[in-house]
Amino acid sequence: MSRRIVVAIDGPGGAGKSTVARGLAGRLGFLYIDTGAMYRAVALWARRQGIGWDNVQALEEMAKAADIALESNPPKVTLNGEDVTAAIREPEISQGASKVSAVGGVRRALVEKQREMARSFSVVMEGRDIGTVVFPGAEVKIFLDAEPDVRARRRVKELGEKTPPPPPEERVLAELEERDRRDRGRTESPLLQAPDAVYLDSSGLTVDQVEEAILRLIRERTSNGKELQR
Ligand code: DC
Repeated sequence: MSRRIVVAIDGPGGAGKSTVARGLAGRLGFLYIDTGAMYRAVALWARRQGIGWDNVQALEEMAKAADIALESNPPKVTLNGEDVTAAIREPEISQGASKVSAVGGVRRALVEKQREMARSFSVVMEGRDIGTVVFPGAEVKIFLDAEPDVRARRRVKELGEKTPPPPPEERVLAELEERDRRDRGRTESPLLQAPDAVYLDSSGLTVDQVEEAILRLIRERTSNGKELQR
């Protein structure tokens, strides 16, 4: 039996983590886990219940109680049995997720769920703290980055395709930068490149080029690399 492998992809919003992680998981037959969607689901639940972003105790209870399920093909996120795939992508929930993710108790509850999800499967897991906190022993760690204006343009395109017309780029850039500052500046598991992570700037690369670069690394780093080749 081949051993379980963890591919950890961390980086700021809009760097291409989701697209690349989903693509890689599909190519490798691994489970794809979008941990940001879990923080978003907790933020959505809190917002609907009228819980303030500063009510850390209630937020921690919600993170523990939340029944979050992730499907990748097609992407679907359910919260307590309800399909919240679209609702968690609202701009207000993006900002809320960044706020609830600064709460230590919320992080501990979700990290536990993330480790449980990967207990029996090889996974490609993306987020902000996968290589540093969730799986510090991951076989492959990538820090995926891109220039801020490139990240903003990608987000504008994504949002415009989902719900036209596309939002103004300056607003998207400002929101991304605000979220980055919060994610990098918080005390609990800030967005940080693990010392043993490989830094990859996706600004001038296609999705396929990024996936190929990571696949090469996975093959180099894993003893059963041959089996991983398509
Ligand atoms: O990746 P995303 O934009 O969907 O993540 C939403 C928010 O959740 C983001 O502001 C940072 C936070 N997050 C986190 O703190 N740790 C993770 N592992 C994943 C996301």
